[in-house]
Amino acid sequence: MKFYIKTYGCQMNERDSEAAASALIASGYEMVNEEGKADILLFNTCSVRDQAERKALGKVGILIKLKKEKPHIIIGVLGCMAQRLKEKIIEDIPHVDFVAGTEQFHRLPEIIASVLSKRKHIVAIDADSEIIERLAGHLYSDNQISAYISVMRGCNRFCSYCIVPYVRGNERSRPMEDIIAEAGRLVDAGIREIILLGQNIASYGLEGRGQPTESSPFAELLARLNAIEGLVRIRFTSPHPQYFNEKLIDAVAMLQKVCKNVHLPMQSGSDRILKLMNRHYTAEKYLSIVNSLKAKAPGITFSTDIIVGFPTETEADFNDTRQLMQAVEYDNAYIFKYSTRSGTKAAEMKDDVPQSIKEERNQILLADLARTTEEHNRKIVGADVEVLVEGVSKRNSTRWCGRSDSNKVVVFDPVPGIKIGDLAKFKITRATAMTLFG
Ligand code: SAH
Ligand code: SF4
Ligand code: F3S
Repeated sequence: MKFYIKTYGCQMNERDSEAAASALIASGYEMVNEEGKADILLFNTCSVRDQAERKALGKVGILIKLKKEKPHIIIGVLGCMAQRLKEKIIEDIPHVDFVAGTEQFHRLPEIIASVLSKRKHIVAIDADSEIIERLAGHLYSDNQISAYISVMRGCNRFCSYCIVPYVRGNERSRPMEDIIAEAGRLVDAGIREIILLGQNIASYGLEGRGQPTESSPFAELLARLNAIEGLVRIRFTSPHPQYFNEKLIDAVAMLQKVCKNVHLPMQSGSDRILKLMNRHYTAEKYLSIVNSLKAKAPGITFSTDIIVGFPTETEADFNDTRQLMQAVEYDNAYIFKYSTRSGTKAAEMKDDVPQSIKEERNQILLADLARTTEEHNRKIVGADVEVLVEGVSKRNSTRWCGRSDSNKVVVFDPVPGIKIGDLAKFKITRATAMTLFG
């Protein structure tokens, strides 16, 4: 049988979809990239904002027509929204055959087999203590040069606005040896870049033990990975500023393979709002991490996540965010309008910033961001940039592309002798907001 999987949400969800696909392929199912060709339609969903949920629910809802025409088709809702809404999804959308939560990915073959044999609805949302041993990944294509490694699951931070700890459970870290072994296997299979994933990745190995100043198991992990021969780049997401201590700053600055491009979620630049968000740092502390990294790794770039319109956010709070953004000079930023998630601490507060103001603040930050990225890119034109070559460009098949250390796409004409996976220097001749031409 053929399956199709659509993924919403973050990179951890993409990684989970890879795990789901691997489990199904290992059980004899075939993966297809077109919905129309599949017998099993899977939707790996996100709950982080109301809009993310509505998108997936809308998509699954309209499949009623297809299900009427082809009743043999199986529809499964997976992931964070499945974990949050459980059987309610099937109550509201009865043509959904099964719901499988965030720790059920490797069980999909069993779940689908029982849907097929019993033709009844299944809701599988239990936690699974084995999941940590089951996180090792698999590769799909020979041309793949970059791979995700999941280093931990869950989150213990409970930022007041966030649903993630409720749908992904407690922090659990994988043993370092397992991660190193997986990285070694990936590099042997041709992988050149590894992207480490975890919702609170800087607290890797601490299992909720607070914030040590003298040590950082995550920094140790980076050092171990840096020593793997054949690996050329290491990226990671997302570190919480509270855990970005001196040890980790030094590791990022000194370790040659760790990309000098850090995603450091800021959320807000107002100390009052940060406190209400339960973020455990101040704007000053955040900026001190950034400045320390800039001093130790000249040329380092940053990206971030920001929420506008958190309950009670005033014009003055918003201006603090704007100021901190300007002080950091981000290369990229994901700006979100606050969305109430029921069950979280912030949901007890009134969502009192009008939608129109959230929209306005969003647009202001986007315009500020466009100015800084444009300026960064202008400075890059004429410079030499090291590129990890990915192969033929998706947009234009006569050209090739790759990525810079700062995670920008670099497009270039094919060069004899340069192949996929090479690290090569290109002189940049032109730049748009997200793309460089070399
Ligand atoms: N673990 C990551 C973030 C995961 S969620 C971290 O701590 O940085 C990705 C982003 O979604 C968050 O950084 C936040 O900016 C945004 N987000 C989370 N909950 C939200 C909500 N209720 N409304 C709007 N944005 C939200
Ligand atoms: Fe959510 Fe905060 Fe955990 Fe990130 S650190 S996943 S924002 S609770
Ligand atoms: Fe990721 Fe969304 Fe779940 S951001 S962890 S897919 S709620």
